[in-house]
Amino acid sequence: MEWTKEQRYSRLEDQKPEFIEALAEQVNSCPWRQSFHIQPRTGLLNDPNGFAYYNGHYHLFYQWFPLGPVHGLKYWYHMKSKDLVHWEDAGIGIRPDNKYDSQGAYSGSAIERDGKLHLIYTGNTRDENWIRHPYQCLAVMDDEDHIEKMEKPIIAEIPAGYTDHFRDPKVWKEDNAYYAVIGAQREDETGCVVLYSSQNMTEWQFEGELETRLKQFGYMWECPDYFELDGMGVLIFSPQGIVPSGDAYQNIYQSGYIIGDKLHFADRTFEHGGFQELDRGFDFYAPQTTIDPNGRRIMVAWMGLPEVEYPTDKNGWAHCLTLPRELFIRKGKLIQRPVKELELLRKQKSFVNAVLKNETKSFDDFRGNRFEFRCEVNRFDAEEFGIEIRASESEKTVIKYDAIQKKIIFDRSKSGKQFANKYGTTRSCWLDAEKIIFHMFVDTSSVEIFINEGEEVFTGRIFPGKDSSQIRFYAKNGSADVTAQKWEL
Ligand code: FRU
Repeated sequence: MEWTKEQRYSRLEDQKPEFIEALAEQVNSCPWRQSFHIQPRTGLLNDPNGFAYYNGHYHLFYQWFPLGPVHGLKYWYHMKSKDLVHWEDAGIGIRPDNKYDSQGAYSGSAIERDGKLHLIYTGNTRDENWIRHPYQCLAVMDDEDHIEKMEKPIIAEIPAGYTDHFRDPKVWKEDNAYYAVIGAQREDETGCVVLYSSQNMTEWQFEGELETRLKQFGYMWECPDYFELDGMGVLIFSPQGIVPSGDAYQNIYQSGYIIGDKLHFADRTFEHGGFQELDRGFDFYAPQTTIDPNGRRIMVAWMGLPEVEYPTDKNGWAHCLTLPRELFIRKGKLIQRPVKELELLRKQKSFVNAVLKNETKSFDDFRGNRFEFRCEVNRFDAEEFGIEIRASESEKTVIKYDAIQKKIIFDRSKSGKQFANKYGTTRSCWLDAEKIIFHMFVDTSSVEIFINEGEEVFTGRIFPGKDSSQIRFYAKNGSADVTAQKWEL
């Protein structure tokens, strides 16, 4: 179904309750609803927003269009949790209901100040000629989760030299000042990030552009996030307009980072290495991080991409968030590990130890549709080995190591209902290792695979039939020693 502009910008508050109930019923009848991922009750979820630890809880909001699986009038939807695993539905956080966010409360971030959580976000507006004008807005949440929007925007003008693609403020505190990075497009239609500073969260000063080495790198950088970890500076962002190159940049838009010396605030220079993709899979965009009271840097992303149709669309909903991942730095690279608290989800455990010799094998206890699975291949001389999950006679999702090419390959060409095939059905990345660990979290319609303790990660939505529950191990042209544990979730 084609959505008209009018439909996309109609308000949740103006809908008849019968319409919302019917939509929710359609969503709940979808066979691909997730069981332990954050997903919208109806409509479309996109970027994680306002991720912060405040007043005894992790707070996590997301971009939400309630009325269907398309991008339209965006709200902030609020979830909260004590353990990053069990999430409480805290209802709508921000409604697009004033003249500074009338066409959507777009992405932003949160920080605590004076005992209150300050949410800073982009208010999207359009004039009668549909020309966009973004405002950066502030809303303040108290310890009872009551959110109040400030009357006036905190940044109303786009600085000279930039277009109206100017959004997604990410705020942090350094010494006694607040800083925010904002995703921007220069007038020559190249992407970049600009820096603002503030003493009080309400008056913001334009400092200028971050001076990176990436002067011509796509046409827009969305959702920037700057933080320091282990004495290094990290800038995460989602550039648009990067062309595929070998195994890299295969998705419609990318998400990645540059890492280097700490940002030099005085002249905004950032000495850094090359751009590296965060995730090697299919469905990953617009990540956001926060720091928690234990000093952990935790990242969550949208498990989806703009401008791609998904099989759940016909059931009136689309997308979910990734699981929270803790970030580390090793050898100039970000390492991602599922947060430890996810062990709380573990139920019944099974275990297998086997030597595979040029064969495909399955084991009695090893099957399921929702599980955590950790498989170590400690020794191998096979040319290729791997695991098939959500498998049946006709379907399988494959993660494998090609020891000749030295590549990890994720193949969803037989995963079930196909979609986005024009962007390819496999994803790969180079990895040279003597031992391979596949650690994965499989939900009804997704898989997140952490390779070698988070050195590489592959995230993808999959849409298999509910009877595709087998797990199979295989080795080709040689042998592989496999030790595997599986927990039902
Ligand atoms: C990224 C993005 C952001 C914007 C938001 C709108 O997916 O396009 O740049 O703020 O989504 O929903």
